[in-house]
Amino acid sequence: MLRFPRQVTLVDVGPRDGLQNEALCLPTAEKVALIDRLAAAGLKRIEVGSFVSPRWVPQMADTADVLAAIARPVGVKFSVLAPNRLGVEAAINARADEVAIFAAASETFSRRNVNASIAEALQRFEDACAAAARYGLPVRGYVSCVLGCPYEGEIAPAAVATVARHLADLGCYEISLGDTIGVGTARRVYTLLEAVAREVPPERLAAHFHDTYGQALANILAALDFGLTVVDSATAGLGGCPYARGAAGNVATEDVLFMLNGLGIETGVDLDQVYLAGAGVCAALGRPPVSKVALAMSRRGAPTHH
Ligand code: HMG
Ligand code: MG
Repeated sequence: MLRFPRQVTLVDVGPRDGLQNEALCLPTAEKVALIDRLAAAGLKRIEVGSFVSPRWVPQMADTADVLAAIARPVGVKFSVLAPNRLGVEAAINARADEVAIFAAASETFSRRNVNASIAEALQRFEDACAAAARYGLPVRGYVSCVLGCPYEGEIAPAAVATVARHLADLGCYEISLGDTIGVGTARRVYTLLEAVAREVPPERLAAHFHDTYGQALANILAALDFGLTVVDSATAGLGGCPYARGAAGNVATEDVLFMLNGLGIETGVDLDQVYLAGAGVCAALGRPPVSKVALAMSRRGAPTHH
């Protein structure tokens, strides 16, 4: 019998990870509407954008405007990605509650994503973390390609553990493990977590799984059984990654919620309201959700209650 936590914290990364890979640059007002709806649905952690080069990711160029326009309910943390000190300073100016720095466990992916080797990227973060620390801004760390790389194939769990440890040493309070291209399967999740947990305890790890091969829910179950209690997801299953062609979006928040509700695990998030937020952003993007739960709910007509 698998062991599950009583409670799980969901981090909705859809407004960032989802929208950064949509061909259409969603208008700022639509992003704001999505984020406000997610906060109203009970999400306490929402990744709302990135302070990266607008030449690299034009979809996130309006992040400061988004932060200025969203409602700021008490108790909800709005975070942004930042690749360097410039990004952290922009996050501070825009009153983000948290920044996330992002490294990779694959050299080639690191080059393609931030134009730097793993070591160079980690070095840049020293400056970025020092700037965040001066303002008391919490820093989250991502490791990409933890279960495979679009360029290098398999990635050794030990390589992931080393990068995770480095991010923790830089001061990241939490390390989110990204299956960027969604190729992992559950047994490999256990093997990975065994290696990473030798360096960073499971209470400080988050599961960030993309759903390319439909394995994300099974992989999340494995991660919960291992002791993780923080899960990243994107409403409607939006997006992918611009530097990982063919990768699907994050696991859908609706799908994770339906599973967690079924397991009796508390999240404080309302599925019906997330469904409506997803329907809204999909209408704005002119595409259907990829979330199976959202599709099932739409076929049933009015939202159901859980
Ligand atoms: P570079 O070209 O090597 O850097 O890019 P640079 O320092 O030479 O700067 C180039 C230009 O960018 C300059 O402007 C800088 O001012 C500007 P120019 O003089 O050409 O007009 N610049 C910035 N502008 C705004 N904000 C900044 C910033 N920094 C520099 N913070 C750089 C290096 C890191 C900037 C670039 O590669 C970049 O922005 N990369 C971002 C890539 C990205 O956002 N990828 C997606 C997120 S990662 C992900 O999705 C994975 C994750 O979800 C987990 C998972 O699934 O695995 C997190
Ligand atoms: Mg991602």
